Amino acid sequence: MAARAHSAEKHLHPLQDAPSTSQLLAQGAAAAGLSATLAPFSAEGSWEQRLAANPYLMAPMAGVSDQAYRLMARAGGAACAVSEMVSVAGIHYANEKTWQLVDPDPAEPDLIVQLFGSDPEQFYEATKSVIDRYESKGKLHKLVAIDINMACPVPKVVRKGEGSALLDDPARAANIVRQVREGSDYNLPVTAKIRIGRKQHDYVAPAFALALERAGVSSVAVHGRYANQFYTGTSDSAAIAQVVRAVDIPVIASGDALTAAQAVQLKESTGAAAVFCARGTYGNPWIFADARSLATGCTPAPHTTAQRLDAFALHVQLLAATGAHIARARSLAGWYLKGMPEAASWRERAMHCVGVSDYLHLIAQVAQANSLDPASVLVGEALQLAQEASAAPYAEKPSHHA
Ligand SMILES: Cc1cc2nc3c(=O)[nH]c(=O)nc-3n(C[C@H](O)[C@H](O)[C@H](O)COP(=O)(O)O)c2cc1C
Repeated sequence: MAARAHSAEKHLHPLQDAPSTSQLLAQGAAAAGLSATLAPFSAEGSWEQRLAANPYLMAPMAGVSDQAYRLMARAGGAACAVSEMVSVAGIHYANEKTWQLVDPDPAEPDLIVQLFGSDPEQFYEATKSVIDRYESKGKLHKLVAIDINMACPVPKVVRKGEGSALLDDPARAANIVRQVREGSDYNLPVTAKIRIGRKQHDYVAPAFALALERAGVSSVAVHGRYANQFYTGTSDSAAIAQVVRAVDIPVIASGDALTAAQAVQLKESTGAAAVFCARGTYGNPWIFADARSLATGCTPAPHTTAQRLDAFALHVQLLAATGAHIARARSLAGWYLKGMPEAASWRERAMHCVGVSDYLHLIAQVAQANSLDPASVLVGEALQLAQEASAAPYAEKPSHHA
């Protein structure tokens, strides 16, 4: 207890000192049951061997899997992560906002960058620009692969012939693969992510994946839904297994890996080389390490309420440290607080949080209400801050750290 008080004192005002993401991880990861040391994606052997050695990956999720989110996933054992999808046209007119999607955080060991678009020439240019960007910052070693989005079902994307619209045009899709390979001087793995078809019962995935294989992709990720299903219904793992049998390249299975057990099951039932965890990571950055444990016959320990609050506190601080819009913490509140006593009421209060300190106060209050004695420096500090500013309710307090 004395040691904890000392450490809380030492780090009393971390937000004002603007700690780096590595410092935040060093301070907060262990108490949240996460690793502060983020391992790079395996560099040993062929692409297939690298995936086989590291089969549980953080999926691309636009609007979600930003730098902070990916850091949490890597701290939770994700073998690698994919950026949010980045428009090749956007890269052409690149502004800082676009580069924020492409750049890894300094604490991220490495990254797969996902591009979307429809024009093969633009893919060629965008690949060159991404590589130049990484090279100019001395971090080319961090660029693991370029992934091509052929899966996005969002109407404003599909209308332009991008994302899942490419499933209707295998010749164009193959040309895009060739252009990206050429743009990378054949020095990087080029991968693609697809759905099983555009419309229900129009199952094109095996033939389409074969066309991509012939164009030179190193692996193909398959989300077992049709694009017109968006995220409804269930993902068809038998349809993914059929793609596994149709191609010689490794397949990454995606769809309904909502728990660690489901992630392991998805890999086993499809025979895929690896699995993408997407919505299963909501409030659960431990899913990757847990899946690895389960796959080796071990039963992972359940994650305590204190660990979940610590993880939430760490995640919010990482959001701030990476310059992300703090409004993203609202979804995080829903995810991390899910299942806790009075969760609905805490979530409703989170809707009124504006800045990082508001969220930390909220987390401290949840910890107090649950009679927790958080071991983490981050939640310990939040408790102290909450006590110092006990008069006004946090919701009405102006935020200085937003
Ligand atoms: C909010 C959200 C954003 C997504 N964004 C992308 C994206 O940018 N690129 C992509 O290839 N897939 C994207 N996906 C699809 C996921 O990577 C994954 O394939 C899908 O969610 C199925 O996995 P799950 O059922 O385990 O969530 C997104 C999914 C969600 C829920």
